[in-house]
Amino acid sequence: MPESKAVPIHPARNVLGSLRVPGDKSISHRYAMLATLAEGPSRLHNFSLGADCASTLGCVQALGAKVERDEQGRLTIEGLGPRLKAPAVPLDCGNSGSTMRMLAGIVAGQSFASEMLGDESLSRRPMKRIIEPLTQMGAEIRATQDGCAPLHITGGKLHGIEYRPLVASAQVKSCLLFAGLLAEGVTTVEEPMRTRDHGELALRAFGVKVERKQAGVSIQGGQQLHPLEVTIPGDISSAAFFLCAASIFPESNLVIDGVSLNPTRSALLDVLAAMGCRISMLRVEEQHGELVGTISLVPGKGPHLVIAGAQTAALVDELPVLAAIAPYTAGGLEVRDAGELRVKESDRLAVVTQNLLAMGAQVEQTADGWRIPGVQKLHGAEINSFGDHRIAMAFAIAALRAEGDTLIRNPECVAISYPNFFQDLEQVVER
Ligand code: S3P
Repeated sequence: MPESKAVPIHPARNVLGSLRVPGDKSISHRYAMLATLAEGPSRLHNFSLGADCASTLGCVQALGAKVERDEQGRLTIEGLGPRLKAPAVPLDCGNSGSTMRMLAGIVAGQSFASEMLGDESLSRRPMKRIIEPLTQMGAEIRATQDGCAPLHITGGKLHGIEYRPLVASAQVKSCLLFAGLLAEGVTTVEEPMRTRDHGELALRAFGVKVERKQAGVSIQGGQQLHPLEVTIPGDISSAAFFLCAASIFPESNLVIDGVSLNPTRSALLDVLAAMGCRISMLRVEEQHGELVGTISLVPGKGPHLVIAGAQTAALVDELPVLAAIAPYTAGGLEVRDAGELRVKESDRLAVVTQNLLAMGAQVEQTADGWRIPGVQKLHGAEINSFGDHRIAMAFAIAALRAEGDTLIRNPECVAISYPNFFQDLEQVVER
């Protein structure tokens, strides 16, 4: 691979300063999709700049929405109401599981057929989790024999169902709520474990009534959405890389402004606190149901941690970076019940293990997690990101405390969620 396709990361002395991270990816996808179903123009400030959300924008444009971005980065989406236009081209979801799974719920409720495509990684990811319930609701869906993309969806008249997904997945929940919005009757999704609630909050922000009863979320079909003007909070899963970086330098002090503090997304803060960090949340406010504020972190030393069950589900995107810094922690880390990581953009359990081993770490990969002892010394290495944005960023963080330089291969994949990641990292790193 040519040298330009690798980014060197030099060891750091400290992590210091303040930063804003780009708009939340999960919220951006949902607002863009719902803005398409609202009649009239919605204005979305601080929309995610990542390639995944650009895939969603490309798809909603193909479905007839008008999308414009002005010089201030403000996005306007002119929605069509619930009836979209038949796309003249396949809906290209790129690398984005969120685009494919959530938009499938909307496409399934339309009176036309569409095809949804993904890149190589997305074409390997499981889609039966949405195909089965959408089929129960009345859609006709063809996929590969393994239940993967491309998906051929013939939409039609959907009817509400009560559904309990086998996996805890916010994408599946949102998919079914969006389909439920276009269906006749009531759709209820009963979660096996609590997942992020951005879908429910976004629906409410657009004027839709959604009810939560214990583990179940219900929506009555046929409700109208009104357009919205809203600022999207910073992505806490992007902030996670810097927070974890700060947690491994004893003299660090980091402030992240305007970041999402949604309780279904901020489990990382509990973990870092359990690792001994002092975390404060300042200027917390609610914006259209979403909590936003400033996080400040000063590191400390904590005990051995075990992450399992519901906590694993709540940390699904933060586990790679937590594992990448675990060797530097005082107590080490064990992660259980994380089998879902095997079907992300890469097999994250295997890829994190491989890269930790390359850096000289001691790590044991289990069927559904890792055991990683603390107080280890790592050395710089060549990191294979396998084109997975969270792997590239996680190991850029691990590299900061390694001895010698690290080379991150295929670094351009960070653009999936965080195009300016390497530049922002340099802003808060002291050498
Ligand atoms: C997401 C949910 C999670 C997460 C993904 C974004 C969402 O996926 O890993 O990055 O926005 O709903 P699953 O629904 O597959 O757990």
